[in-house]
Amino acid sequence: PDPAGMALSLPKAELHIHIEGALEPELAFECARRNGILLPYADVDDLRRRYDFSNLQSFLDLYYTGMNVLRTTRDFTELADSYLARAREQGVRHAEIFFDPQAHTLRGVELSTVLDGLEASLATSRERFGISTRLIACFLRDRGPEEAMATFDALLPHADRITGVGLDSAESGYPPDAFAAVFSRAREAGLSLVAHAGEEGPPEYVWQALDVLGVDRVDHGIRAVEDATLLRRIARDQVPLTVCPLSNVRLRCVSTLDQHCLPHLVDTGVSATLNSDDPAYFGGYVADNYSAVQRELGFGDTALREFAANSIRASFLGQDEREQLL
Ligand code: ADE
Ligand code: ZN
Repeated sequence: PDPAGMALSLPKAELHIHIEGALEPELAFECARRNGILLPYADVDDLRRRYDFSNLQSFLDLYYTGMNVLRTTRDFTELADSYLARAREQGVRHAEIFFDPQAHTLRGVELSTVLDGLEASLATSRERFGISTRLIACFLRDRGPEEAMATFDALLPHADRITGVGLDSAESGYPPDAFAAVFSRAREAGLSLVAHAGEEGPPEYVWQALDVLGVDRVDHGIRAVEDATLLRRIARDQVPLTVCPLSNVRLRCVSTLDQHCLPHLVDTGVSATLNSDDPAYFGGYVADNYSAVQRELGFGDTALREFAANSIRASFLGQDEREQLL
């Protein structure tokens, strides 16, 4: 059996993908040209050469600059189409897609432009790509809880268009507990809850995501391995972690892939899923993450199948839809 083939062909869900992080340089330059925006890079190759990050913030600087070219519904539609085309080749059957409303509204793009644009693609994702899709709106934690609350108010009239809310952007210095009130309102509105925690930030942030925000899944969560009690809790309650191995190496949360804590998570009985995070920036889409952990960490076919099954079980699909994919 061809290992790369296995990683590609396994039916899987992707649960941690920022749609703005799927903006490939070619599309960025195309949107820039269409919208009359000058990107501060000479060309596609010049931009790609800058994908050399020292930490999360050095990536976020480029990520927020890059997405400045996204202005019209068409831009967001083409962005989602571009992701779905790649995801199909990678065996994705279901995708729960993050977007950052504030990253667009703060630069004058209407929330309805973002949602209408993404939906024009996602509404027919099943027919065109064989992929069911959901949207998760993330609050930018470095913009603080008041702005998150205002963003939630703006999202509420569109609540039927999203499946959940999340928390992302710069982590260190921005603990989850500050966002208790907005997450509580999101829960009351019937939305599912996720949060980035323990990517760069300490295990304490993972505890807060669980105990204060009450999240259904933790995004990343890798620093939970530093706290045995926390890790046992995550395993006992089967709180899924959306692990992003290539991202962790590119953002230097982990020195090299063979040092990644994924084997430790699996050995402890954690429900780990594999995801791409920002695939245009981190050198791989989701199946590339499956092949990378197979190659560098020695996971066999059975383990890869388990990661894929975990991803479907951990999704926010209804039980019937999940069973169809398993
Ligand atoms: N936004 C996009 N990618 C992110 C990541 N890996 N961590 C936090 N915020 C993000
Ligand atoms: Zn992320």
